[in-house]
Amino acid sequence: MVMAGMRESRAMRVLFLLLVLGLSGASPPPEPVACTRGTSDCTVTNAYGSFPDRAICRAANATFPRTEQELVAAVAAAAAAKRKVKVATSHSHSFPKLACPGGRDGTIISTEKLNRTVSINKGKRLLTVESGMLLRDLIKVAGDNGLSLPHSPYWYGLTIGGMLATGAHGSSLWGKGSAVHEYVVGLRIVTPAPASQGFAVVRELGADDPDLDAAKVSLGVLGVISQVTLELQPLFKRAVKFVTRDDTDMADKVAVWGGLHEFGDVLWLPSQGKAIYREDDRVHVSTPGNGLNDFLGLRAQPTLGLLTARAAEERLEENGTDIARCLAARLPAATSELQAYGFTNDGVFFTGYPVVGFQDRIQAFGTCIDSPEDGMLSACRWDPRIRGGFMYNSGVSVALSKAPAFVADVQRLRDLDPAAFCGMDAKRGVLMRYVKASSAYLGKAEDSLDLDAIYYRSYTEGTPRAHSDVYDELEQMALRKYGGAPHWGKNRNFAFDGAIAKYPKAAEFLEVKDRYDPDGIFSSEWSDQVLGIRGSPSVVRPGCAIEGLCVCSDDTHCAPEQGYFCRPGKVYTEARVCTFGSARPIDEL
Ligand SMILES: Cc1cc2nc3c(=O)[nH]c(=O)nc-3n(C[C@H](O)[C@H](O)[C@H](O)COP(=O)(O)OP(=O)(O)OC[C@H]3O[C@@H](n4cnc5c(N)ncnc54)[C@H](O)[C@@H]3O)c2cc1C
Ligand SMILES: *[C@@H]1O[C@H](CO)[C@@H](O)[C@H](O)[C@H]1NC(C)=O
Ligand SMILES: *[C@@H]1O[C@H](CO)[C@@H](O)[C@H](O)[C@H]1NC(C)=O
Ligand SMILES: *[C@@H]1O[C@H](CO)[C@@H](O)[C@H](O)[C@H]1NC(C)=O
Repeated sequence: MVMAGMRESRAMRVLFLLLVLGLSGASPPPEPVACTRGTSDCTVTNAYGSFPDRAICRAANATFPRTEQELVAAVAAAAAAKRKVKVATSHSHSFPKLACPGGRDGTIISTEKLNRTVSINKGKRLLTVESGMLLRDLIKVAGDNGLSLPHSPYWYGLTIGGMLATGAHGSSLWGKGSAVHEYVVGLRIVTPAPASQGFAVVRELGADDPDLDAAKVSLGVLGVISQVTLELQPLFKRAVKFVTRDDTDMADKVAVWGGLHEFGDVLWLPSQGKAIYREDDRVHVSTPGNGLNDFLGLRAQPTLGLLTARAAEERLEENGTDIARCLAARLPAATSELQAYGFTNDGVFFTGYPVVGFQDRIQAFGTCIDSPEDGMLSACRWDPRIRGGFMYNSGVSVALSKAPAFVADVQRLRDLDPAAFCGMDAKRGVLMRYVKASSAYLGKAEDSLDLDAIYYRSYTEGTPRAHSDVYDELEQMALRKYGGAPHWGKNRNFAFDGAIAKYPKAAEFLEVKDRYDPDGIFSSEWSDQVLGIRGSPSVVRPGCAIEGLCVCSDDTHCAPEQGYFCRPGKVYTEARVCTFGSARPIDEL
């Protein structure tokens, strides 16, 4: 009776919340740019409604060009006035502050309405699209014409402009590799120009233009990419299989796995000591099968479920025990394994591995952005209008040659206290993917193993996370001991400290930037910080290491009043991490 009553009152509360939230929204993700007076007086955020420093940016106004001409006019207006300007996309999925124009009086140019196919040449397998096109639509256009983009991120809610700007990738060491920018053979970019040229010009960069190596991965600081031409391949089929093994030989296996399978990746569940190997290769198009990859985690989620799951997660994080957290981590892993991670053999049922299907049905997913408007009854799990899956996402690429030693180090850290890693397992685990060395100046300098981990973020600034020390140590190990490069579109501030020094061609990039945008109107405080031009991406203030804004060098950077002090790492002793425990200063340890 009492239990039923409690459940009922919770259900009432949730229903009430649903009604309140339902009044204000649609279920597709909200716009990252919001203006109070028409298109002026705007705020800019990302898809999660929060940058790493929890700030929201401001811009004087926003424009939504529909044609290249309108785009040129927008850039010219900003250049003539030497006004700061930045591109935002329909959802702006990058975690760091990439979407903010410098200062508070800049202009936002949204590529939301620049999402058409410009031309398609089936014979030469060339596809030209406007830069605001979503990966989902690009895959569809290609597939409908018997073509495929061989590699891409796994989530299709990203735009072609955003993927290029941040060097986004899937997983492969074969052919040209897994980064989308490797398939670019031409683009049109609108940059500032002298008054004599009308303050803005369209630069057309062909495959042999050396500037393409700057424009392919640009953090958006060179100008606005208007159109992109990609060299595609004939539509092919893939056969996918997941094999779960224990992780004892994983350090050696990751070194060779990417060579064995064209689309291979490895998902590591550290606390459970398991590795899920993705065996994924091209097969002949006559191979039977019409498989579909509709990844469970990126389907539309019922709002009610998101709220309940978050509440449970907050209780576990704040007041749970390791035993409870580890138990809770097992269920999602087991369920998604049982449900084949959302793969089906025919679009409806999963009957067994391998799943064989066309590339355009396998390469990427994300049906939560396709969900019909339903008054907030369902949404993507990170929708900021719902108190749902608020998270951090770290992505670091370690040179493949160093990957076995790095993985062995993390395993050593895990072996000291496997339960400390349960939070990582609960959020899908650590995804390890392959990225090839690139000629792009801000692309990967070497063949790399890219690590990707999602983890809990509190809604309250400065709240310590259970076992944050192992996450911090893992990231510092990847970035500092093994010289890894942070994904430009993921991570917390501290990860970008010194990042530019990891790019041997950074000077070439900056030369192009000075030529294309001498007044730096496309540059912002953040881009200057990460490119090593001015200031540091780290923010040093009380509690900064708890928020990932700095690496601690002093207890006040953690949360001493809550028992978290700045301590050396356990395996990588040069790491400095916020650890729960004794109050002795570092130099006494
Ligand atoms: C659920 C999820 C899954 C993800 N999966 C992957 C993955 O598998 N692999 C991976 O590598 N990454 C992945 N990411 C990260 C993602 O690749 C990056 O955050 C991505 O770059 C964001 O693309 P966007 O279109 O949202 O761009 P935004 O975040 O809006 O923009 C990124 C930058 O590009 C600039 N920009 C955008 N368009 C243009 C243009 N036309 N001209 C000039 N500058 C431009 C913007 O100004 C900004 O500086 C994932 C993110 C999420 C949320
Ligand atoms: C944006 O604001 C600036 C400064 O207030 C103004 O000069 C400019 O004309 C505005 N641009 C648009 C497109 O409204
Ligand atoms: C472009 O975006 C609009 C609005 O989001 C959408 O309705 C349309 O289908 C998109 N067009 C293409 C070609 O993808
Ligand atoms: C954790 O416990 C404290 C003290 O009992 C309580 O105030 C707080 O609300 C709890 N947190 C959550 C998320 O349940």
